Amino acid sequence: MSEEIAEYERPSGEPRDGIAEDDHPIPRWFTISFYASIGFAAFYIPYYLLSGWSQAVQYEAEVRIAEAHAAEVRAALPTTNPYHGDAVAIAEGSEVWSTICVACHKPDGSGLVGPSLIDPYWKYGNSDETLFETVSAGRPLGMPPWGPALGSEKIWKVLAYMETLPKTDEPGVGAPDFAAPAPGG
Ligand code: HEC
Repeated sequence: MSEEIAEYERPSGEPRDGIAEDDHPIPRWFTISFYASIGFAAFYIPYYLLSGWSQAVQYEAEVRIAEAHAAEVRAALPTTNPYHGDAVAIAEGSEVWSTICVACHKPDGSGLVGPSLIDPYWKYGNSDETLFETVSAGRPLGMPPWGPALGSEKIWKVLAYMETLPKTDEPGVGAPDFAAPAPGG
């Protein structure tokens, strides 16, 4: 039931109710890019569908390469502290300790904002590798990542210094069964 809609004849240029209608050809650049995009699609669509290439596949390939690289780098990192008991390194580590770590862990390591590092309790573990990870990458409840600022050498050295702090058997700040001493007591 479609009705033919008759179009007004266009008396070119002649105003109707004061409105003149003109008929401009579509600009050449537009026509050319229009046909060019059809031409491009004719090659690109079959290529996309048949070649197996896609952003997702390319992304996954790049991630695989990056992960393999990261695994190599990780495997090359030392997992034990090269500076255990090294007096020179410990002296350098003590500098780092007293400029950075003391603010949150106190000079004696007994803890303030951060937990005690001289009690027997370790939330994340105290193997060389884990301690390095803690200081380098930070921990979620307020331990900042120091890797970018210190680099691995200084981290190993400050950890070597940390080992030399006098230890206590009492649970300290941050230990699960730690009770803060009553004020004044
Ligand atoms: C801005 C405060 C702050 C500074 C500075 C800071 N820490 Fe911490 N640190 C924390 C907090 C808070 C935690 C507890 C994080 C958590 O429980 O997730 C922590 C946790 C740790 C732990 C893990 C303790 C455990 O029980 O597993 C170690 C080790 C540590 N810090 C060493 C250091 C060293 C070494 C430095 C100096 C390079 C340092 N921190 C500087 C706040 C700080």
